Amino acid sequence: MINKTFTVEKANHFIAENKHLVNTQYKPEDHFSAEIGWINDPNGFVYFRGEYHLFYQFYPYDSVWGPMHWGHAKSKDLVTWEHLPVALAPDQDYDRNGCFSGSAIVKDDRLWLMYTGHIEEESGVRQVQNMAFSDDGIHFEKISQNPVATGADLPAEVIAADFRDPKLFEKDGRYYSVVAAKHKDNVGCIVLLGSDNLVEWRFESIFLKGVEHQGFMWECPDYFELDGKDCLIMSPMRYQREGDSYHNINSSVLFTGKVDWGEKRFIPESVQEIDHGQDFYAPQTFLDDQNRRILIAWMQTWGRTLPTHDQEHKWACAMTLPRILRLEDGKLRQFPVKKGQYQIQIDKDCHYHLGNDTDYLEFGYDSNAQQVYIDRSHLAQKILGEEEQDTSRRYVDIEAKELDVILDKNSIEIFVNQGEASLTATYYLTVPAKLSRID
Ligand code: FRU
Repeated sequence: MINKTFTVEKANHFIAENKHLVNTQYKPEDHFSAEIGWINDPNGFVYFRGEYHLFYQFYPYDSVWGPMHWGHAKSKDLVTWEHLPVALAPDQDYDRNGCFSGSAIVKDDRLWLMYTGHIEEESGVRQVQNMAFSDDGIHFEKISQNPVATGADLPAEVIAADFRDPKLFEKDGRYYSVVAAKHKDNVGCIVLLGSDNLVEWRFESIFLKGVEHQGFMWECPDYFELDGKDCLIMSPMRYQREGDSYHNINSSVLFTGKVDWGEKRFIPESVQEIDHGQDFYAPQTFLDDQNRRILIAWMQTWGRTLPTHDQEHKWACAMTLPRILRLEDGKLRQFPVKKGQYQIQIDKDCHYHLGNDTDYLEFGYDSNAQQVYIDRSHLAQKILGEEEQDTSRRYVDIEAKELDVILDKNSIEIFVNQGEASLTATYYLTVPAKLSRID
């Protein structure tokens, strides 16, 4: 059955008619944001016919989350983006309350998307997996076989109300998808689906099941090989705080380890938080034509104050700069695709204020504590969260020698010691963003 409340045509029409109403005061220049409306997770990040394509969770009609569409843009350099028509709208029975997160893959020069259909019924919520494809890279057709995977395909230990965010990959000539699911034991779990043709899917295995302190639901999984290791990225809800890590309710983590392809199970060796800032969630990666593993994340997290929404700017949220990933001795290193405006060599403490005396963002390096930090507590426009403990200061424990600082109109990304650690945060200043060193 076709649902006419939301369609791609209506969304495109609305964007064209209303985008001139957007207030661009805080709108980023070098970071991706939508022409109008709300965005969250990056989806379907992929290299197709010589260009980078980015899709994203999108609600064009308001600057808060709503029934999810997939927005779409492309780029030649991963910094400048060209907006394209909306790719998916929740217009079918099997995705009627939202086209949730998913991913893309290219097969025989055809661009395929796999995404979650979110369905709210009187009996409860259901989430199913669907496929769509495009031959021109702009218009997408949902296939008639949808949904291609439902709760009925899963073992009884998995709760199908939370079964979402499929990430496609190819391995030895077969297609796979890692999908987030909730486990009956109230821990996160990733299931592996397999297919020969991208249309017929079957359950293969429980790829990884979490333990209690690792959160009760793992969103947006992503599996890939990097520098000789198997990697599994995911975004757990309520991963327990530990030292300098996992201070946000919603964290993003990297498990490194080895996949037993006989059993189709991921055997973890270590886990690390990907970014130590206040605003980083739901990262997704892809491999480009130069064999670079590139990651982009939502430069935001759930439950926070949204100044551009509160001030009716008609847009909210942006993506991080894309980052090239490497693994060195099991440790993640991230290299932004564009250098920051400031390269700071550290010989002792360094503390910076961005703003003026009454409204500023603070960041820097505390050499006694050996911490690189971002502190939002002196901003005039407070950003609050749902965390029990205050997150206005976040930090990473590291002996810092060098900082690469990327500033945009409402964001800061700090890369420490050539990508050994990163911190990402947003801010909304009421005064000019003047940078001064204060130590
Ligand atoms: C993560 C997430 C996904 C879901 C999407 C809905 O931020 O909650 O799990 O598919 O957002 O917009």
